[in-house]
Amino acid sequence: MNKNLILTGMMGVGKSTIGSLLSKKLNMNFIDLDKSIEKEESLSIKNIFKEKGEKYFRALEEKIFLEKFKEPNSVIALGGGSFISLKIRNLVLKNCKSFWLDLDIRTLSSRLSNSIKRPLLSGNNIEENLYKIYKDRKDLYGLADFKIDCNNIDRTVIIKKITKLYASK
Ligand code: S3P
Repeated sequence: MNKNLILTGMMGVGKSTIGSLLSKKLNMNFIDLDKSIEKEESLSIKNIFKEKGEKYFRALEEKIFLEKFKEPNSVIALGGGSFISLKIRNLVLKNCKSFWLDLDIRTLSSRLSNSIKRPLLSGNNIEENLYKIYKDRKDLYGLADFKIDCNNIDRTVIIKKITKLYASK
């Protein structure tokens, strides 16, 4: 059986959009981890952070991932911080094919400048916050099986690249 396909990378890189398109192309199920968490809690991610805190969110993220990653034939878009969890990362690296979608911070910053959904970017300087988060996480994202440089290429090309790599052994 094919391994599940996992997308990781920073907020705003396009994991959910690309994941959904990929799943259609590959005839696989699509699981958006953040959406699954929101459904389980009947709360938005923003309100989970606000009302229950990040620690609670991270525990929930692990719990839901543990349930979801067992669903066969799935494309799973992780949240930007999921791959930082050792538990999630080890499960992904052992059982799935993983892709790090990487994109310049400037581009991410302009994409996210109006986002009200991202609790970790609630301060003033989004670009600076993104740099800090990226610096802390890039080595861990780099443990994914494949890195896809998403700068200056459109979605269809990104999807083609991932499809090709996913099919390769
Ligand atoms: C987070 C990214 C978000 C969401 C939460 C925390 C992060 O997901 O899980 O706000 O730690 O980078 P997206 O990457 O889908 O925005």
